[in-house]
This record gives sequence, structure tokens and C-alpha cells, in this order.
Amino acid sequence: MKAIEIRNKFLKYFEDHGHKVIPSAPLIPINDPSVLFTTAGMQQLVPYLLGEKHPEGNKLTDYQKCLRTNDIDEVGDNRHLTYFEMLGNWSLGAYFKEEAIKMSFEFLTKVLNIPAEKISVTCFAGNDEAPRDDEAAKYWEEAGIPKERIYFLKDNWWIAGEEGPCGPDTEMFYDTGKPKCSENCNPDCDCGKYVEIWNNVFMKYFKHKDGSLTELKQHNVDTGLGLERMTMLLQGKQTPFETELFAPIMEKLEQLQKVDNIQSRRIVAEHLRASMMIIADGGRPSNIDRGYILRRLIRRMTRHLNKLQIDLQETENLINLNIENLKEMYPELEENKETIKQVIMEEQNKFVKTLAHGEKEFMKAANKAKEEGKDFIDTETVFKLYDTYGFPPEVTEEIAKENNIQVDMEGFNKLFKEHQEKSRQGSEHKFKGGLAEQNEQTIAYHTATHLLHAALRQVLGDHVKQNGSNITTERLRFDFTHPQKMTKEEIQKVEDLVNEKIKEDLPVTCEEMSYEDAKKSGAIGLFTNKYGDRVKVYTIGDFSKEICGGPHVKHTGELGTFKIKKEESSSSGVRRIKAVLIK
Ligand code: ALA
Repeated sequence: MKAIEIRNKFLKYFEDHGHKVIPSAPLIPINDPSVLFTTAGMQQLVPYLLGEKHPEGNKLTDYQKCLRTNDIDEVGDNRHLTYFEMLGNWSLGAYFKEEAIKMSFEFLTKVLNIPAEKISVTCFAGNDEAPRDDEAAKYWEEAGIPKERIYFLKDNWWIAGEEGPCGPDTEMFYDTGKPKCSENCNPDCDCGKYVEIWNNVFMKYFKHKDGSLTELKQHNVDTGLGLERMTMLLQGKQTPFETELFAPIMEKLEQLQKVDNIQSRRIVAEHLRASMMIIADGGRPSNIDRGYILRRLIRRMTRHLNKLQIDLQETENLINLNIENLKEMYPELEENKETIKQVIMEEQNKFVKTLAHGEKEFMKAANKAKEEGKDFIDTETVFKLYDTYGFPPEVTEEIAKENNIQVDMEGFNKLFKEHQEKSRQGSEHKFKGGLAEQNEQTIAYHTATHLLHAALRQVLGDHVKQNGSNITTERLRFDFTHPQKMTKEEIQKVEDLVNEKIKEDLPVTCEEMSYEDAKKSGAIGLFTNKYGDRVKVYTIGDFSKEICGGPHVKHTGELGTFKIKKEESSSSGVRRIKAVLIK
């Protein structure tokens, strides 16, 4: 079964069981600067897990694009990926353990036809704060998993980060049929016998910053099934790189390579797909945060193309091939084809200029160290490789490994953090400067953005949420969540509504209040408390109420005539409007 069929069967199964299919959130999370990338399906649902009403109801399902970078340097082995797709179903206080387990079991055994004997499960073993999950175990037994294949583990607890909704989980494992590595071999063991395929989290708690747990008012289910892994297992493959998701690119790399290296081929295939997905969702390379992850992926991929002695001119063909292969699953790749090419190739060109010099510099330092009887390279050289030659730390570490020498990563990381902090301050400074330079036009566009946001919600519905905003003296650009292209009529309606509110010359007022009060007052803005305790709320007549730092015009009559110039796709499930004010 192909990956896309598994995805479709999953969504259909849960749709048939009363779930609404919702779109994947973009890889770059909406309105959440606190995390770099979307790492789990539940991320876009946090407010609803905490009790807010979801517009689509209390049973949801989706496929979610995810990126996890903690194992970035493990990519190249037979299983680690940075980008992956997670299939999920959610109960927002609707069903709980019994139904969730029943459905998981039925989907695995009846829809995917996995023999029940191949499935083992784990349940939470209990600790001081929460009891052992005998309930989940009971439902597994009722479903048809015998006691011998139900394991209780201390680690079966899931939370995203430090604070938030969480709870015990039950994990499903596929038995590959390999012999047990020891008498005690169980799903917790990473000998390769058991492969985790699905996690059901029973989110009935909230973990507070101080570590304490309280019970949520609703008992939720949050699940995640790893698509690449499932595809690999159902196809009887040993690695995801042998499935149709990667096979065409792996084969092409094999044809092109002049030096054989399977690890390099995997790194190129994996990092290329991940980079393309990030760029399609709006990411661009830079030296900090999200942008630096993308930069690292492209640079590491570039070095491995070099190792394979593949001409970088081939990158364009590789991207084309990947788009052809993946566009049915991710139409946004095709939609952003030119940007993807441009961004990746530009970044490669930047790096290739310094790559060879940097490698030479490394070898010089390595030889010197060896002459001096040292088995490590000094931190300064590692930092110079980063700072002068643009080597991401894991690239330097990788070269060191290949040359049997060590690098003092701890020392480097310290310098690196200091450096990143400086860059971040620099960019914030720039941003502040930008605001300080605010003039009449940008202020007017800022107010127009609020009117547009409110008008979109009125015309299209409350699912419209701000995804991004960018203002120049010439225009505004506004990204928002909406599953399809707006019709001409909808665009006209929104434009008319904004102009109507401008004509009404509504007063724009500002009030300061607590974040909680702002939320209660119905102000739109970020869901999670990313603001300080007190926030500013800007109100425009009785039309718009938004948490915002300002500044704004005093009356909407100052804005002139509002005109939407363009409505287009920004990324999957996100639309982009460009509009101008004509005085
Ligand atoms: N949120 C859960 C996970 O990522 C389902 O494993």
C-alpha cells in the first residue's frame, strides 16, 4: 500500500466514524513564535484541548506535516527523518480510552489488515502523580491483544514541551518478526524487533510551569501515527528510503553519484524533502532560529552531494523529480516550485564558495592537532568554520568523525549560543527600528489590516485566523487560514465591507487590560499567552477588536479607499491577500 493510500484510508476511516477532516497546519506554526516548527498534530489544537470550542466539532482527524530536529545528526541511518507526516484523530471531550483503543485496533487490523498477532502495546505504568493505566490495558484485552503482549512502561506519558495538556499514553508496536534480542526484550528495546507505529494520548491533565498537574475539564484523546514508518512496514521494507516516498530520488542519486555512499544518499534525499516542505510553507534560510534549521539542512545536503561527487547543477533536476513524486500528497510543492528552486540553489551557491576552503582549514587544524598529539580540534577552529566558512556545527562534527578526530562541541555550543543571541538581538533591534520608522502610511496599513481581518471573518467565517502580516509603505500583505481559494464574490464582499467601515469613519480606541480580560472580551489575537500579563486591545467601532501593540490611526476615515490586489495561496490551508490604500 502506498503512503497516500494509507493517509486516505485513515482519514476516511475516521470520517466514517464521525470525525471532521481538518487541514494540516503549516510546518511553520500559526501565531506561535515559541516553537520553531510544528512537531505534532495536537499543536494546532491546544486551545481546543483546553476547552475552547472547535468550529468543526469535537471529533477531528487530519494529516499533519511535522518537523523534528532533535535527531538531525542521526539522519542517514536507516530510520531517522526530520520531516515526517503524522496521521491523527482527536476527541475533544467526546470519546475516551475505550472508543479510541477500539478504533485504533480496528483500523490497524481491519483496514490496514495487520495481523493482530503482530501488534504489541504499552500502557502507562503509573507514578506518584497518576495511576497505572489498567483501564487502557483492559480495553486492549477486550479488543483482542493478550496480556503477554501488553506491557506497562514508566515512560508512557506524553506532553509537548514543559507545560500544557498531557496524559498517559498507550503505544502500538509492530513486531517485525526478528527474534527477541534477550529474554527481557520488549517494545521499549531498540534492537529493531518492535517498531512503534501509533500513539494514543489520553489527555486529561494539564501540566503547569511549576511541574504540578491538574485535571482538565474535558478528557481528550490525541493520537499520532507515523506515515513513513507505517508505509515501510506495510511494504515489507527495511527503511523508509526504500518506499515510493524516497525511492525515485535515491535511485537518481545512485545513477548520478561517482562515489558510492548510501548514508550520503539518504541525507540528501531526506534533507531535500524537508527543505522543500519548509520553503513551501514560507521558511527561508537565515542565521537564527527557523531559518538556521533550513540553512543547516540545505548546507549539510550540499556537502553530501559533494561527497557523492554529484554536480550541484543537478539540484534543479532533483527538485523537479521530488515535486513530480510528491505533488499528489503535497500540492504546495508544485505551487511553490520556482521559489523552492531559487531558495535552495541560492543557498547552495553561497555555501559552495566556502565549503572547499573550510574543509581545507579543517584538515590543516586536524593535522596540526595530530602532530601535537591531541585527539581533538580546538574550539576556535570549529567556531571559525561556522563563522567564516558557514559550516553548521553538525557538518563540522561529521567531518571530524570521518577523520577520526574529536571536536569540543560543548565549548563550541557555548560560543555558538552567545553568537546567536547577539544575532537575535541584532534582528530584534532592526525590527524595533522598523517600527520606530513608522509613518503615516504604515500606520494606516496597520489599521486596514485589522479591518481586513475582521471583514474576512465576517464574510468567510471564524475559522479565519491571522497567519502572518507584512506591511510596507506601499501595501499590506495578510496571510490567513482558509481552506480554499476565495471566490470573486467573496473578495468583492470583503473589499466592500472594509470600505464601508472606512466610510463610517469609526473611532479607533485603545484599552489596556489583562490578557484574560482581553480574551473574555472576545478580542482576537494569539491563543496562547505569549503576551505579557497586560495587553493592549484596539477596538474599531463595534466591528473589530484585536490584541495588538499598535499604533493605529484615530479614525478609519483617514484610510482612503481599500483595494484588494491579489488573493493567492501562501501554503497549504493558508491564503494570502495583498491590498493597497488609495488616497
Ligand atoms: N501527540 C502525540 C505524539 O506526538 C500523539 O506522539
